[in-house]
Amino acid sequence: MSAPRLILAIESSCDESAVALVRADGAVLAERVATQAALHATTGGVVPEAAARAHHAWLPRLLAEVVGEAKGLGVEREIDAVAVTAGPGLLGSLLVGAGVAAGWAWGRGLPIIPTNHLEGHLRAAWLYPATRSEVPVSTHGASGTRSAAPTLPAIGLVVSGGHTLLVRIARDGGIERLGGTVDDAAGEAFDKIARLIGLPYPGGAALSALAATAGAAATGGGDRLPIARTEHPFDFSFSGVKTAAVRMALVAIGADPSSPGRAGALAQLLSERPIPSSAAVVIAAAAERAIVGALVERVERALDATPGAALIVGGGVAANAALRRALTTAAERRGRAITIPPIAWCTDNAAMIGAAAHAALAEGRAELHDPGSGIAVAASWQIGAEVPR
Ligand code: KG4
Ligand code: ZN
Repeated sequence: MSAPRLILAIESSCDESAVALVRADGAVLAERVATQAALHATTGGVVPEAAARAHHAWLPRLLAEVVGEAKGLGVEREIDAVAVTAGPGLLGSLLVGAGVAAGWAWGRGLPIIPTNHLEGHLRAAWLYPATRSEVPVSTHGASGTRSAAPTLPAIGLVVSGGHTLLVRIARDGGIERLGGTVDDAAGEAFDKIARLIGLPYPGGAALSALAATAGAAATGGGDRLPIARTEHPFDFSFSGVKTAAVRMALVAIGADPSSPGRAGALAQLLSERPIPSSAAVVIAAAAERAIVGALVERVERALDATPGAALIVGGGVAANAALRRALTTAAERRGRAITIPPIAWCTDNAAMIGAAAHAALAEGRAELHDPGSGIAVAASWQIGAEVPR
């Protein structure tokens, strides 16, 4: 088979169910995303079985809508492959997506491209909305002339609730993992500190909004949290920031900061003695500064080690305004191009999976699978590793 022209892509690795129609050049012709954020807010985090059930309820509907749009555009018969996220992610959620994808593809005699979720976050930088004449206006607000697509080589940073990953993408598209988090993901660190200061899950955006209200005294250095050193220059560690934030919180309520106790006892203590809002602002600003500082430091190192490389960023934490500003400055100072996709393509979506599948096939890293033989998934599929079997 020649390279697919149009891929129908399905994503269900964590708490977003999504389906999209993506052309080989990165144009997104249709897409739907159903988020489970409200469902998981009730439990303060993602409950894997609840996530899988929600994917089971949503994916067939989203698929029907996207295929309906493809019909309306007269391109349904041009769909010549189905991409599905095969990892990393929650096993039950991945299995739901793989099952839906395999069933639909088998019914139409189409091959499946099992696709890596993290490659998706990186390849989101190549997406652009198709022009209004090609898609119903509802699909993606803006009309679609693509600003310049990223060039290779590039340094790629993926920062989300589940992942913190730094890679180098070679001129031929090959991906080399440079580093990642040794403990919490960047978004997870934001979420844990947000919860500590009384913000609902997922609290990254709310923490950032609170930090933005801090004056120069809070952001300028008075209360600095440590940027953890790691053994490897491209790795990240965020658990120390969280511990330091806990200490600041204990001081703020007049408790002993040297013995924070276990998570349950701490939560109980903070529910009885909530942190004053002035202290919450200071903690939010200090935490954001430390997390952003750690991310930018490693990215600068990677850019300096890779002459001429552009910078691409993906994942939900890329919504963070302080991070976007600092990364843009870091890239521009070195005369490097930077691409941060629109937020809707930074957070989990299926269009990025379509883009990653097109790229992996074009670069000879992906295989077409027969949906009749079942699609394997792997909760911990590392970027650059073999496709799950
Ligand atoms: O990529 P994503 O939507 O979901 C996955 O984790 O896969 O990322 C969600 C993460 C959450 O941890 C959320 O708190 C964080 O991104 N986030 C932010 C901001 N917006 C979302 N963190 C910091 N500042 C923000 N503005
Ligand atoms: Zn993700």
